[in-house]
Amino acid sequence: MERNAVRLGEVDLASSIMNASGPRSAERGEIYELAAVHRGAIVFKSCNLAGLDAPDNLKNAGAEHFAAIAGELTPRGKAIIASIVGTSEEEFIAVARRLDRAGAAILELNLADPYVLNSLAPFASLDRLKALVGRVRGEIGCALAVKLPPAAGYPARALADVLKAMRVAIAVCQNDLPKDLEVDIARGLAKGPERALSHAHAIFRESEGLLDVVAVGGINAGRDAYLAHLTGAKAVQVGSALIKEGAGALGRIDRELDALLAEHGKRSVDEIVGALRFEQ
Ligand SMILES: Cc1cc2nc3c(=O)[nH]c(=O)nc-3n(C[C@H](O)[C@H](O)[C@H](O)COP(=O)(O)O)c2cc1C
Repeated sequence: MERNAVRLGEVDLASSIMNASGPRSAERGEIYELAAVHRGAIVFKSCNLAGLDAPDNLKNAGAEHFAAIAGELTPRGKAIIASIVGTSEEEFIAVARRLDRAGAAILELNLADPYVLNSLAPFASLDRLKALVGRVRGEIGCALAVKLPPAAGYPARALADVLKAMRVAIAVCQNDLPKDLEVDIARGLAKGPERALSHAHAIFRESEGLLDVVAVGGINAGRDAYLAHLTGAKAVQVGSALIKEGAGALGRIDRELDALLAEHGKRSVDEIVGALRFEQ
């Protein structure tokens, strides 16, 4: 299934499909299961420095736990995307340095969770965002991704400009496509006037090819992945489907995407990334 291979933030991945941070990606056993059943990148649950017992959605065993697993899986050729939360710039930097040293291919700053939004307030101003991202960027060697909240309070252009200026390679954005969207995926045509169809699509349109977009939210089947790619996503993350179905969901979506690409005569995911056009 080389058709699904992509280069994300200068990192070669065997598949554009990956798990979303959180579901089935916190415990060593869960992570090893994902690594065994899927050939794509593995995204770790968000971690802070010392670990958290609360809030429930961010329970994690801390940076050392994830650094140890990254140190084991990286030499086996697994691309690791480690996700970070924290309540201060210093905490983000300390966790980022640890996971970078452990071999993570990409670090994903989780700036989408209320835990971060309510403490560090990275979007209080664009200067604040620049300071945080710029400081982390200066401390690490690997590719940097930022997971954006659905409503950061700024136009897509302003956010994309900050990320590009701070040498962020990847924006992880919401795949919040309208439910009533009519798309002919065979022809890559959407009904209605030219417009941004999702947060991911908006950031893609403003990124001038300088940011790779990862779409997250509602990816449950190959068709969802295909549509996310058409709207600019280089890769997609799968959350709820993993909870419902188990680790096998990744392989299923991978195969369904591959079959759709073959059916529509596409040799690679790259041929469809951002290729959607509009039909009035
Ligand atoms: C149980 C659970 C735990 C999650 N934990 C995290 C997390 O640690 N870090 C993060 O960035 N997102 C986390 N998320 C959000 C997912 O990464 C993803 O953005 C969200 O589930 C939307 O994708 P979906 O529609 O495929 O579920 C979590 C989601 C769920 C359901």
